[in-house]
Amino acid sequence: MTMPTNRVFSGVQPTGNLHLGNYLGAIRHFVGLQKTHQCLYCVVDMHAITVWQDPKELAHNTREVAAAYIAAGINPKEHIIFNQSKVSAHAELAWVLNCVGRMGWLSRMTQFKEKAGKHKENASVGLFTYPVLMAADILIYRATHVPVGDDQKQHLELARDIAQKFNNDFSGNGSEGFFPAPEPLIMGAATRVMSLRDGSKKMSKSDPSAMSRITLTDTVDDIAKKIKKAKTDMEPIPETAEGLKERPEADNLVGIFAALSGQTKDDVLADFAGQGFGAFKPKLAELAIEKLSPITGEMARLMDDPAEIDRILADGAERASALAQPVLAEVKKIVGFV
Ligand code: TYM
Repeated sequence: MTMPTNRVFSGVQPTGNLHLGNYLGAIRHFVGLQKTHQCLYCVVDMHAITVWQDPKELAHNTREVAAAYIAAGINPKEHIIFNQSKVSAHAELAWVLNCVGRMGWLSRMTQFKEKAGKHKENASVGLFTYPVLMAADILIYRATHVPVGDDQKQHLELARDIAQKFNNDFSGNGSEGFFPAPEPLIMGAATRVMSLRDGSKKMSKSDPSAMSRITLTDTVDDIAKKIKKAKTDMEPIPETAEGLKERPEADNLVGIFAALSGQTKDDVLADFAGQGFGAFKPKLAELAIEKLSPITGEMARLMDDPAEIDRILADGAERASALAQPVLAEVKKIVGFV
């Protein structure tokens, strides 16, 4: 079996409210990697149900993430777009990896602690073992590179540990070097986009305040309003990134501007140093609208024809399955399943 050297895998959960953080931290980079890598982009519907989802909304949100991928510029013919639940090899490998990963490793996952909160006893078992399914997503394709936002770094480290332990555990039966250690790609000026209402909190799909995030379905007016109302401070924009320390909201808006315009924060500061946020925000709104509204428009057009999205997902699943099946067959042999 050939070992890929430049295969990208990444995923987004279809839990609604796809936002600027998802775009700048992940989806935008998915687009760029198509030139140099063979890419698989997954809508991780099995991850979504680790927290209860309304079935109709889940189906809608699954198509919406697929539409966002395509609208952002991912080519589903040259690369692969699919939803996780259609390729059963993810679940099958996840079971084997559940038996490789250790309780102690998973107990240290900060995302589980955040999501389960004070009600750990009431969290689903799936939420606890979520990072193992994520490792399976990546390893079933022996993907070499995984573009993600900063919040997924710990999960990627776990995937690497699981890969290595699998390779060691069955070394008498041909597992040496079987899974490559997937490399995280955490790129750009906005690897962690923060809430527009609170610079100490990550921009998230589940924040109760819609004003905390710009979504990929927001109208031009929504975007302008949310940026205008974004929390800032009274100080002028500094000359260097050093001057953004201890100013999380200012740092966040400058980072968003830099990422949207493809510049560094220092470039942005050089242009705006000395000005107040009253002058900066309209420019940021203009830029955000210029970059996001074509994507929003294209998503709406695609969502008008759900059958076409379903066809794209089914075609992607078939091609993903063809890549996954030989790896799964090899895993079964290595483990000793007859
Ligand atoms: P999810 O659906 O929470 O987020 C999708 C992608 O968006 C990034 N992201 C952010 N980036 C910058 N700033 C933010 N505020 C922000 N919020 C989210 C995430 O880092 C992610 O890259 N577990 C994953 C999905 C997944 C996956 C995988 C990813 C399942 N299997 C295999 C990579 C490989 C998740 O919940 O992403």
